[in-house]
Amino acid sequence: MDTSTTAPLSDAQVEHFLEKGYVVLEQCFDAEQAAPIVDRSWERLGVDRDDPSTWDRPRVHLSSQTHVDAEEFAPTAFAAACQLLGGRERIQEPWEWSDGIIANLGVGADRPFDEPSAKVGGWHKDGDFFRHFLDSPEQGLLTIVLWTDVVSRGGGTFVATDSVGVVARFLAERPEGVLPDVLQQTRLVEHCRDFEELTGRQGDVVLMHPFMLHATSQNVLRAQRLITNPPIALREPMDFDRADASQSSPVEQAVLRGLGVDRFAFTPTAPREAVVPPRLLAQQAAGGAAG
Ligand SMILES: [Fe+2]
Repeated sequence: MDTSTTAPLSDAQVEHFLEKGYVVLEQCFDAEQAAPIVDRSWERLGVDRDDPSTWDRPRVHLSSQTHVDAEEFAPTAFAAACQLLGGRERIQEPWEWSDGIIANLGVGADRPFDEPSAKVGGWHKDGDFFRHFLDSPEQGLLTIVLWTDVVSRGGGTFVATDSVGVVARFLAERPEGVLPDVLQQTRLVEHCRDFEELTGRQGDVVLMHPFMLHATSQNVLRAQRLITNPPIALREPMDFDRADASQSSPVEQAVLRGLGVDRFAFTPTAPREAVVPPRLLAQQAAGGAAG
């Protein structure tokens, strides 16, 4: 069977994902495809992309106005996401990519660059909208779509590449689940030792484990940096105790590796729960979406 379209990741790439929690897929879409979304984003930002003196805000998160279907727009990225999650039948389709661009146009440009480490502020696990369990389906993967090149010291996301095991052990000990603000206050990054700065070219897509701790970095170069983080959700909770171990997804295998076991029977002891994130409350109070 030709697996290039259904399982584009090589064994080495899957192993990198299991070990480091992420994989970079190069050139999933081209400049021509990116242009409409990128051009419109600069219009909406209201600045001249080629004149940093017009960049009046270091960080802007545009609201989502239009979407593309990832399977059509970037089929390799879509297939790789399905591969990491154990097959397309396990994900909620379509996987939509919006134009809700996160622009970093000079965060922290007024001070020297801090290399990635636990001392940098802002480390977090994504998912401010649900009670977190070890097997939570709400956030299947953490993803980054690079709409511009992302250069070193130019706003590349910082990741703690040994955080998946740290988060897995924390959640495995808490079958009652953990609310997002509690998770945020726990400073799990203090238990991590390995940090990287993610860089790449326009058209690259980074697929990360949902437990990956990450942080915004400084853009001291004031480079153009536009990304999105399109969420991808599972239909069902993860299962770490499958009768047929070959059916475990790489995301599930990474959790088991982090726990240091081959199987793990996990049963939540509290109901799954949606949480209204503070960012939405703030937007509602301000009378609309940020943009
Ligand atoms: Fe995040």
